[in-house]
Amino acid sequence: PSIVVLASGSGSNLQALIDASRERDYPGEIIAVGCNKPGAFALERAAQANIPTFVVNHKDYGSREEFDGALMAELRRYNPDLIVLAGFMRILTDDFVQAFRGKMLNIHPSLLPAYTGLNTHQRVLEAGDKLHGVSVHFVTEELDGGPVIAQADVKVKPDDTPETLAERVQKKEHLLYPIVVSWFCEGRIQLGAHSVLFDGEPL
Ligand code: GRF
Repeated sequence: PSIVVLASGSGSNLQALIDASRERDYPGEIIAVGCNKPGAFALERAAQANIPTFVVNHKDYGSREEFDGALMAELRRYNPDLIVLAGFMRILTDDFVQAFRGKMLNIHPSLLPAYTGLNTHQRVLEAGDKLHGVSVHFVTEELDGGPVIAQADVKVKPDDTPETLAERVQKKEHLLYPIVVSWFCEGRIQLGAHSVLFDGEPL
């Protein structure tokens, strides 16, 4: 199966996916990387790996609808089996999400449904939580609210800062995302009506 990765920033998750997809027997192929920020390091990583890239700069568009329309046009050119959001920091319109229903994954740095949105590490520390982590989920119209496929835990240490915590969460992201993407590519996970199906059974 073919994969387009969308990123906005450093692209460390993209790198983990590139590295995994280069391993023998990995079931998916990254055919393009798309980005909404012209200078993002993710683009460099893709170029290094000889993966085609495209940029749809949100600043060039007057509305979310127009931006999503342009992004959609690029994606249609590649017509991927799967879209992987890897630190893609734009909220997508309902129309866009519906067009790729069941074919789009996101990684979010919290144990969803806790802490949707931004600044999760800081909020976890402020709340005094002992446990934090990362979730991979199907993208639906609800922001960070689609059915969760898999999660990995990260224990919070007493002396953690948002930065030290983020670092340990990211390590888990880089392990978890390639695994979940491989499950999708093997046809093992599907978005059901309200939940995830794993080998045809509700998770
Ligand atoms: C990750 O922490 C991811 O969970 C969040 O954005 C960050 C992206 O990092 N959605 P990177 O660009 O993959 O390094």
